[in-house]
Amino acid sequence: MTIPLPRTGPARNEVQAHRGASAVAPENTIAAFRAAAEQGCKWVELDVALLKDGTAVVIHDASIDRCSSSRGKLGDMVAADLAGIDGGSWFSEAFRGEALPTLALAIDRLGELGLNVNVEIKQHAHHTSLAQLTETVHSHLRQRARHTEIIISSFDVEALKAMHRLDPSYELAMLWSELPGDWAEILTSIPATTIHLNYKALSFGLLEEASHRGIKVRAWTCNAPHLLVPFWGAGLAGVITDNPSLFLT
Ligand code: G3P
Ligand code: MG
Repeated sequence: MTIPLPRTGPARNEVQAHRGASAVAPENTIAAFRAAAEQGCKWVELDVALLKDGTAVVIHDASIDRCSSSRGKLGDMVAADLAGIDGGSWFSEAFRGEALPTLALAIDRLGELGLNVNVEIKQHAHHTSLAQLTETVHSHLRQRARHTEIIISSFDVEALKAMHRLDPSYELAMLWSELPGDWAEILTSIPATTIHLNYKALSFGLLEEASHRGIKVRAWTCNAPHLLVPFWGAGLAGVITDNPSLFLT
């Protein structure tokens, strides 16, 4: 009889590059997605938000100030304003001229790279309509992501509920920095099958209860594999990391 050894790391298909391989390339750019693919990663996480004209863009913040050499709030910008913005040199001169991608461009490139995508829907103060945000994301995915596996994640319960109404087959992941006491009820209300939790808030109790309920748990944003070693054998499903290569050895 062979007794399986406890897992000491994630399955290859359960390593997600956070904002792309953002340790080695500017976050949420095609360069970061390409770097993830080059590391052998199968999934990227990206953040999506809307400009004033409804264009879906891949960016974490509500402004372009931190991740470009220009300044501006997403809520004041339209698609034409993205032209010529340098989203790379803030990270390294080697990436000067890297675009701030639209969601449309990102999905197309991810498809070409053979990468699956965890789309994190950001809910910013300048967004005037949750329906516009979620319907835009959904229509991009439906039209462009034909050969791409998809996870939808958000810190916003209502965004996940809206995505479920648009397509009940989406894998929905509730994002939490800390686990609320009523986490199971919240998941049921969406309904969602997955938790994406700050790795610092992981516990064996959660993993046991989640496993009992058929809920998948992934940890973000961990760049130190040894910190997660105790949790793989306890049922942790996956990791979201800036540096996938650390988990893909
Ligand atoms: O998907 C996990 C992670 O992206 C959540 O936090 O702020 O990096 O988008 P943040
Ligand atoms: Mg994110």
